[in-house]
Amino acid sequence: MRRPCKLAPSILSADFARLGEEVRTVEAAGADLIHFDVMDGHFVPNISIGIPVLQSLRAVTKLPLDVHLMIEHPERYIEAFVKAGADSISVHVEACDDVLAVARLVRGFGVRTSAAVNPETDVREALRIADALDMILVMSVHPGFGGQEFIPSALDKLRYARDELDRRGLNLDIEIDGGIKVDNIAAAAAAGANVLVSGSGIFSALSYAGVVSQMRQRLAAVELLAS
Ligand code: DX5
Ligand code: ZN
Repeated sequence: MRRPCKLAPSILSADFARLGEEVRTVEAAGADLIHFDVMDGHFVPNISIGIPVLQSLRAVTKLPLDVHLMIEHPERYIEAFVKAGADSISVHVEACDDVLAVARLVRGFGVRTSAAVNPETDVREALRIADALDMILVMSVHPGFGGQEFIPSALDKLRYARDELDRRGLNLDIEIDGGIKVDNIAAAAAAGANVLVSGSGIFSALSYAGVVSQMRQRLAAVELLAS
């Protein structure tokens, strides 16, 4: 059984000087989640936004806030992100000494729990703890920057992960993150992703509503085929 596809604009490519307005605009355009990228300058070679920004956004949108932690020692910050309003939290398997323990910590706070894998990481690193997860995040670019090219081998990873979850009777979400645009969103969904992140694909468009509706049409075609 497939879940309906969800579109998650990544605000990494938004105009941070007008962040509240940007979030309201993609909400009105039909986004399902707001993807919130946290970078620490250690796990990835870039620094982005964190807890106070999440807290401010909580007040401007009703959409679930999907927090992607690209940070070392994420266990130190889970409680703070939950208190600031996170609805789901992804931690990278590469950033955790014991990813199962961190997943259990996240779940203990009652938020949706996800393990993320970098392009060079075997997706089995997340699948082996699938029982403790609500979602697996497959990176289709090297984390750290928006606007990179989609890495096609991510599609094989999606297919493998979806087949393996189906085989085990588990109905987790699979999120794809990096380089998703109107032209490749259907391929990612057909391969097994049902949470589709797009940063520059949405925020570089002149009309967010226009690109969101084009993406939705592509996803609807895949959902129809799968039903
Ligand atoms: C990359 C981030 C992504 C990024 C996606 O490290 O995790 O969420 O914002 O941006 P695009 O869609 O431009 O690749
Ligand atoms: Zn992300």
